[in-house]
Amino acid sequence: MVTVITYGTFDLFHFGHVRLLKRLQSLGDRLVIGCSTDEFNNLKGKKTVVPYAHRREILLSCRYVSDVFPEDNWEQKREDIIREKADIFGMGHDWTGKFDDLSDLVKVVYLPRTEGISTTEIKDFMRGAQASTSLISAGSDEQIDRIAVAGHRSA
Ligand code: CTP
Repeated sequence: MVTVITYGTFDLFHFGHVRLLKRLQSLGDRLVIGCSTDEFNNLKGKKTVVPYAHRREILLSCRYVSDVFPEDNWEQKREDIIREKADIFGMGHDWTGKFDDLSDLVKVVYLPRTEGISTTEIKDFMRGAQASTSLISAGSDEQIDRIAVAGHRSA
C-alpha cells in the first residue's frame, strides 16, 4: 500500500485541484490531504470563502481522496507523514524546493500546476463580474467578505 500525502487550502474547489489530486492519487494507492483550517489560514493572512468543514467534505467526496485531516500549523508535517505511513509527499510546482527537507522521511515530488485557473483567479473573476453588473458597490472586497461570512456561518 503506497500512501501519498499532500497539503493545501482547496478553497472554491476547481479543475486545477482535481487534476492535481488525480495525478497524486495515480502515484500510489491512497491519497491523504492535510487541509488548512480557517484558523491556520488566518495566520497565513488568507481568507477563505468556503469554511474548513465544507472544504473537507468536498475533498472527501472526490474519488481520488481517501482521507482528509486538519492542517493547523507549519510544523506538523513530519508527525503526519509518520502517522499516515506516507511514502510520497506531493505538491504543485509552485512549492518546488520548499519541502525538500522532508526527503529523509518520504519521496518528495512537485507536480505541474494546471495553467489558467486558481482560487485567486476565480475570486478576481467574481469581483469583476459583480462590478460589471453594478449590483454591488465598487468595494467588491466587502461582497466577497459577506459571502465568506455567510458560508462560515452555515458550516
Ligand atoms: N494547484 C494546481 N493547479 C492549479 C491550482 C492549484 O496544481 N491551477 C495545486 C497547488 O499547487 C497546491 C494545491 O493545488 O498543491 C492546493 O492549492 P491551493 O493553494 O489551495 O489552490 P490555488 O488555486 O493555488 O489557490 P490560491 O490562488 O489561493 O493560491
